[in-house]
Amino acid sequence: MGSKRQFRIWRGDETGGDLKDYTVEVNEGEVVLDIIHRLQATEAPDLACRWNCKAGKCGSCSMEINGKPRLGCMTRMSTFEESETVTVTPLRTFPVIRDLVTDVSFNYEKARETPAFAPPADVAPGDYRMQQVDVERSQEFRKCIECFLCQNVCHVIRDHEENKPAFSGPRFFIRAAELDMHPLDTRTDRKEYAQAEMGLGYCNITKCCTEVCPEHIKITDNGIIPMKERAVDRRYDPLVRLGSKIFRRGETPQNSVTSARAAGPATPSTSAGFHSHAGGSHDSRAEAQAQSGVNWHREVPHPTAPAVDERGKLPLTELTFDRAAAPSPFGDDVSFPLPPEHLNFAHPEQDKH
Ligand code: SF4
Ligand code: SF4
Ligand code: FES
Repeated sequence: MGSKRQFRIWRGDETGGDLKDYTVEVNEGEVVLDIIHRLQATEAPDLACRWNCKAGKCGSCSMEINGKPRLGCMTRMSTFEESETVTVTPLRTFPVIRDLVTDVSFNYEKARETPAFAPPADVAPGDYRMQQVDVERSQEFRKCIECFLCQNVCHVIRDHEENKPAFSGPRFFIRAAELDMHPLDTRTDRKEYAQAEMGLGYCNITKCCTEVCPEHIKITDNGIIPMKERAVDRRYDPLVRLGSKIFRRGETPQNSVTSARAAGPATPSTSAGFHSHAGGSHDSRAEAQAQSGVNWHREVPHPTAPAVDERGKLPLTELTFDRAAAPSPFGDDVSFPLPPEHLNFAHPEQDKH
């Protein structure tokens, strides 16, 4: 015989809802999804929840448990104290359909937008040959079960519906990285594509996506950072920088990414529809503050509309802007270690010593 435990589960639909309290029996070895099934079998037969495998492999049972994005079928009840109330809510980044079920079609749209594997035209399927080392490099990314927990936790879109058109999210950054590392992929513009069309510049490597991945894929360290590093390599290439200066002086067209989808005419950087740069702010005082060194307590400028072009995509920033992403809190041209006068972060414990 198990013990009685307290649960709070969000009930509602797209028009609204609220947390509802339940007292449920919990037995040894059970997971949160077991408890939801017990509720469905007893006092809440109409409680909606998506699941399939109950083995952490289908990625359907994504939910937020005590505020943390997790798989219901892989979260053991023994994780929580006996006296703890377990709160279960739907994924916050996607629209609720009912109860714990959300509409994750955003992710399928982004999957469709991501250019597919492009093998050499003269090699037939079945004749593809790869070195084992190349297989292993991208194998990590292929473990993805498309649970979309990483997409859900990413702050770029979690509370910013307006960023969704321009941002594909970590799940698709690792797809781009996987294809970029693939020795048989013939597209050479994966990095530029990720930057310009998938919104890689929005990511400021908070690593929240890596933290919640149930497959323990090192999304940031092995996927996003290598992609960003290669984009930066190009940006700091002396020839690219020279080209950037010449282009900016003449204000020539900037969007040079060659993509299957972006076949339209290049967009002038000064045309209406562009804001300053990716994730940037129009608050010049705050920008100046950001340039003057680290100030962790400075007022952060309010988020502005994303820096997208008429197609709702980030412009290709490498050639025409000084930076590829949001302004760094350290300033652009700072070298490390920082001078002591710029280190104005006070550790809460420091006065105790
Ligand atoms: S590391 Fe980047 S993609 Fe991952 S959650 Fe943070 S901002 Fe989003
Ligand atoms: S990368 Fe990890 S968290 Fe993201 S969808 Fe795939 S398995 Fe889920
Ligand atoms: S039910 Fe398949 S991952 Fe949880």
